[in-house]
Amino acid sequence: MYPINRNRRLRTTETLRNLIRENSITANDFLVPLFVVEGKNIKQEIQSMPNYFKMSIDLILKEIKLLHSLGLKSVLLFAQVEENLKDNYGTEAINKNGLMQRAIKSIKDKFPDILIMSDVALDPYSSYGHDGVVENGLIVNDITNDILAKMSLSHVEAGADFVAPSDMMDGRVKSIRMMLEKEGHHNSGIMSYSAKYASSFYGPFRDALDSKPGFGDKKTYQMDIGNREEAINEVRNDVEEGADIIMIKPGISYLDIIRDIKNNFNIPISAYQVSGEYAMIKSASKNGWIDENQTILETSIAFKRAGASFIASYFAKDVITLIS
Ligand code: PBG
Repeated sequence: MYPINRNRRLRTTETLRNLIRENSITANDFLVPLFVVEGKNIKQEIQSMPNYFKMSIDLILKEIKLLHSLGLKSVLLFAQVEENLKDNYGTEAINKNGLMQRAIKSIKDKFPDILIMSDVALDPYSSYGHDGVVENGLIVNDITNDILAKMSLSHVEAGADFVAPSDMMDGRVKSIRMMLEKEGHHNSGIMSYSAKYASSFYGPFRDALDSKPGFGDKKTYQMDIGNREEAINEVRNDVEEGADIIMIKPGISYLDIIRDIKNNFNIPISAYQVSGEYAMIKSASKNGWIDENQTILETSIAFKRAGASFIASYFAKDVITLIS
């Protein structure tokens, strides 16, 4: 008890603080989201995500070379699908020569040691901007699962190490796992967005991919923002269905969920510091209202402290540049 116990004693010097620090961050803690677009030599800034770019495959390869030199060796790929290729069934999603499949193959050919995770969901491919097939104004679960399984197989055949279903259909992890097993891809993994909330923080991402829902919202499949126990249920289902890694999303507003999952399961957890969080930090720091560098370090460590094994973050390159 005070004055024998003085907690400030452990904070007296930086060396001591570093010595006893419980959580820190390295390049191994990041998964880098990348947006791929059709074309050559294209580098387009995303309007609501300042200094973040969509790139054609040739420039994505250059970017990956840079990431690799910083020790950032895991990427999460999203493809922007051209408007005329969209339909209700996401037919383009299973095209072996689609943009995503070509991007995966090009990256794997050039950088075999880069770990590739690919987004699996219909929304960028859907004429309705929804993550599933639409019938009579409803998002149909099981038909969507069949497509997601085929989509996953095509990504794995192109060279993806992990598929990352972000759609929130029930049973899709099982459909995907069964398909991959049937086709002999025993070591191809699934990172499942198990607890993905119907959040307002995805706005800039939908701008980037032009994937806003054409009608309604995503509340019949993404989770209700008020729920906590339900996240445990979602994760349990996905673990039983064969998920290898669990994703919790979005990030900073859902650290309690990360900790719940960490305390209840022995499975790697990924957190996603999503586009809206990026936009908020960027705009506040641009106005001089917060210190960007300190804020991105602080939020990154917060994910680790909450219990995440790694973080999907648009700040990965900035953080690593800062600390190396
Ligand atoms: C879509 C998907 C979304 C994100 C990742 N995959 C948006 C959505 O569900 O509408 C969001 C990522 C971000 O905001 O950074 N399946």
